[in-house]
Amino acid sequence: MKQVLTWACSLLFVFPLKAQEVPEVYSNIGSDENGVFLQMSNQKIYAQAAGDYFHFSDFYNNITGTEAGLEFDFKIPDLNGTLYYGFINYKDGSFPQPVYFRESSPIVNGKTVIPIARNLSGRYDMIGWEKSGKGILGYRIMTDKGLILYDGKAAFIHQDTLFTAVPTVIEGPFINKLTHKSCVISFVTSQEVKASIKTNNKTFTDKKASIKHEIEINRLEAGTQYNYQLTLGEFEYDFKFETSPTPGSRKKFTFAYGSDSRSGQGGGERDIFGTNAYIMKRIASLSMAEGAKFVQFTGDLIDGYEVSRERMNLQYANWKHAVEAYWHYIPFIPGFGNHEAYNYIFHDTIRDFNYLIDHFPFANDSGESLFQDNFVLPENGPRSEDNSKYDPDKSKDDFPSYKESVFWYTYDNVAMVVMNSDYWYSPQGLSIVSGNLHAYIMDNQMKWLEKTLKRLEKDENIDHVFVTVHTPFFPNGGHVKDDMWYNGDNRMRPTVNGKTYDEGIIERRDKLLDIIVNKSTKTVAALTGDEHNYNMLTITEEMDRYPETYNHEKVKLSRTFYQINNGAAGAPYYAQEKTPWMKHVRNFSTQNALVLIDVEGSKIHVRVKNPDTLELIDEYDLRK
Ligand SMILES: [Fe+2]
Repeated sequence: MKQVLTWACSLLFVFPLKAQEVPEVYSNIGSDENGVFLQMSNQKIYAQAAGDYFHFSDFYNNITGTEAGLEFDFKIPDLNGTLYYGFINYKDGSFPQPVYFRESSPIVNGKTVIPIARNLSGRYDMIGWEKSGKGILGYRIMTDKGLILYDGKAAFIHQDTLFTAVPTVIEGPFINKLTHKSCVISFVTSQEVKASIKTNNKTFTDKKASIKHEIEINRLEAGTQYNYQLTLGEFEYDFKFETSPTPGSRKKFTFAYGSDSRSGQGGGERDIFGTNAYIMKRIASLSMAEGAKFVQFTGDLIDGYEVSRERMNLQYANWKHAVEAYWHYIPFIPGFGNHEAYNYIFHDTIRDFNYLIDHFPFANDSGESLFQDNFVLPENGPRSEDNSKYDPDKSKDDFPSYKESVFWYTYDNVAMVVMNSDYWYSPQGLSIVSGNLHAYIMDNQMKWLEKTLKRLEKDENIDHVFVTVHTPFFPNGGHVKDDMWYNGDNRMRPTVNGKTYDEGIIERRDKLLDIIVNKSTKTVAALTGDEHNYNMLTITEEMDRYPETYNHEKVKLSRTFYQINNGAAGAPYYAQEKTPWMKHVRNFSTQNALVLIDVEGSKIHVRVKNPDTLELIDEYDLRK
C-alpha cells in the first residue's frame, strides 16, 4: 500500500519508453527503446501495449462544484451512458450505502453533472445538507451498453450558494491485521490529505499528507469492542471493531471462507468491471449476520490477467467497494490467485500463440506489487525465491516479493497459514519464457511453510491450523487439467532462467502433504478455491491419488485430512469431473456458497450456506 497511484500513472502516461532491466529469472525476454520483447529465433515480439482508455484516478478526481451542484469529467471522450447518484446517510444504519435518487444524469463524452440544488433539496434532502452545508454523494458510472464501471463517492461543501468538491474517503476505512491488542485501519482518499483516527480516547494522525493511509492502533485490550472515528476535513465517520480474544482463551467463534469472485454472467452487479460485486456483497453481509470475526478469501477476487495497471486497479477498487460496508467492522483477508495476474503478453502471429509472463519491474509494477498496493496484510512470510538453488544471481533480487501474499495470522486458538500458489506465474509458454507454474509452490515458500507449521505446533495457544491456498491439492471440477494434478502429468514444473525445476507438480504436491499432514498434528483442513464450486474431500491413505504409471516415491499419509473447496463466490461455474479420488468427494455444489467455520475449543463445526438464497448447502463436524 505504499505506492501513490497518481504518481505511477504519470510515469506511464508522460514518460517515453526506454530499455529497462529484464529480471534474470526470465529467458528469451529482452528490452530496448521500443519496449519489452520476446526473442524468437531472429524475430522480436514486442509486448502488447496497455491500451489504456482511462486513468482510474479520473473516475474520482475531476469533480468541480458550481452553484447548481457537481460537474464530473471522467476524461474518456468516448464514454456515453448514465450516472446514477444519491446521498449516503452515514447516520442512518451501520452499513452506509448510496440511496439512489429517482432520476439519473446522462454521461456525454465523458462528462456529466449532479444537480444537487435542483434535485436533491427539500423533501429529497435526507442528509440535511441544506442545514449542515455538507454532504456525501454516491455515484455509479454505467456505459451506454449497460456495463457498470465504477461506484464512486464525492464529498461536497455548500457555502454562500456555491458547492465545492472536497477530499473524499473513496475506500474504507478497513480493519486489517487484527490481533488481541492492535489493528491497522486503512483508507484511501481522493487527494493527498492528512486524516486522523480517534479511538480509545487517543487520536492517531497521519504523519504526512497522502492518498493511501494506514494507521496502526495499538495497546488495546483483548476481546474488546472499540468505537473509532475517522476525521477528514469537516467529515467524520463512526464505526467500531473488536480486538481478538486473548490467544488460547478458547472461546466460541465463527469465521468465513470463500474465493473466486471474479465477474460472472447475468449482467448488472454480477460484473462491476472485473468483479462479481453482487455475490461478494451477499457474502459480506451473510458473514456479518452470522457474526463471523473475519473473512478469509483466497484468490481470484477479480478478472485480472491484464496488461493495464489502470484496469487492474479499477478491478481491485470494485472488489473492495463490494464488501466495504462490512469491512469497516471485521477484517477481510484476501489471498493471491491466478486471476491476480498482471502480465506482459507476447503474441506470436506465426504460431498464433500468446506467451504470458508476470509484469516487471517486480518491485513496483508486477502482479505481486499491485496486490501489495491494494491491501494491508501481514508481512511475516518468506521474502522471495531469491537465494534458492535456482536463483541465477545471488547478489541481487531477481524474483518478485512474497510480501503480503504469503503470511500467517491467528485468532484465539486458530491459526491461518495463507499461501500463494500463483507466485511469479507465467500463464502460458513458460518453457520458452521461464516462470512459475500455476499451483506450484516453489522452494523458499515450502521451507517457510515447514518452519511456520513447526512453530505453530509448539504454540500452546493454537489448537487448529488451517492452510489456505488458491489451488486444490486434488481438483474435482474445472481444474483437473491443472492445479496440483495436471491430469496426472508430473512433467509439469517451473522453469527459472531456462532451467527446469527438479521436482514435478505431483512430487511437489506430495511434499506439501507430507509437511502439512504428516509433520503437523494441528492442521485440520486445506481451504482451497480456483474451481468454481463447493465440495469437501476427505483425504486418507486409502484414497487413490496417483496416475496409473508413476515412477516416483509415493507419500504415505499418517492420518485423515480435509480439503474444503469453495470457489463459489460468483465466477462462472464448473461441473464435477472424473478423478481417481472422486468417490471421496462430498456434496459437490455449483450454488454460490460461503463456508462458515464454527470453532469452540477443541471442536470445529462447518456450515455451508448459499449467500444469495441463505439455504444450508452442507453441514458437518471436522473435529468433535
Ligand atoms: Fe483461479
